[in-house]
Amino acid sequence: MANAASALETGLKSEAAMRKIIVFTDTHMEPDVADGKLHPDVQLAKGIEHVNAHNGDADLVIFCGDLTDVGDIKSYQMLQARLQDLRLPYKLLLGNHDRRDNFLSVFEDAETDRNGFVQQVIDMGDLRLILLDTLNAPPYDYPKSHMGRLCEKRLAWLDEKLEEAAHKPCIIFMHHPPHDTGFVGMDIIKLLDGEAFYEVATRYGNLKHIVCGHVHRTISGSHRGVPFSVFKSTVGQMPMIFDVASTSVEVNEPSAYGILFADPQTVLVQTEDFELTDLSAVRKLIE
Ligand SMILES: [Fe+2]
Repeated sequence: MANAASALETGLKSEAAMRKIIVFTDTHMEPDVADGKLHPDVQLAKGIEHVNAHNGDADLVIFCGDLTDVGDIKSYQMLQARLQDLRLPYKLLLGNHDRRDNFLSVFEDAETDRNGFVQQVIDMGDLRLILLDTLNAPPYDYPKSHMGRLCEKRLAWLDEKLEEAAHKPCIIFMHHPPHDTGFVGMDIIKLLDGEAFYEVATRYGNLKHIVCGHVHRTISGSHRGVPFSVFKSTVGQMPMIFDVASTSVEVNEPSAYGILFADPQTVLVQTEDFELTDLSAVRKLIE
């Protein structure tokens, strides 16, 4: 699922070169939105235009789940059409608002593991990216399916991929945070299998960072010694009210995407509120 040749495919970068990875999350594509809500396709178009203009040297763009709002075919087609504008290779993960069957019927070339989960490994020189499928379905049974799940099959696959990476530092990308993030409502629907996940994830000592979506908020920290980053959505954001049980309340703060710079020794994490600053105008001033 890549739309352009890059250093990722061609291997032009040296093994230990610093890699640049763009992270979009929670694009929540849907054709029709209520008055007053940001339109996900308009927001994603702005984000993609920004990446093309200012981060076109990135190796890869990863979409960290909740690609659509209700997992319908029309919304996946809308996403597919918009992604035609992106001049970089990209990979897509699933979240709790997605439907695996509908996703795979539109993105027919999406990579899956041997059990049909949308999981894959990307080796970038001396760095391994592991993309996980935390969708707790089928059956699509809400609100339970809003909670994240890594079943025994998915955890066994993760164990295998971390072990075979051996000396390679690994970064995991997954929609659901595997631990609390401080928002009561979202913590109820975090990854259900956090204990089992961390047992596997820390087994070989090569996991360097975890990247998540789901919360619609910029959050960083560490859990059990593993650093993590959560990024804002391209549409509505989680208000900074920690004790609300609702998971549907959103505020129209500026949309964002994440930028990771990574090599075997380093992971740098930046966020870009892409609607806030006209970088082209800034460049004209300084160049
Ligand atoms: Fe979301």
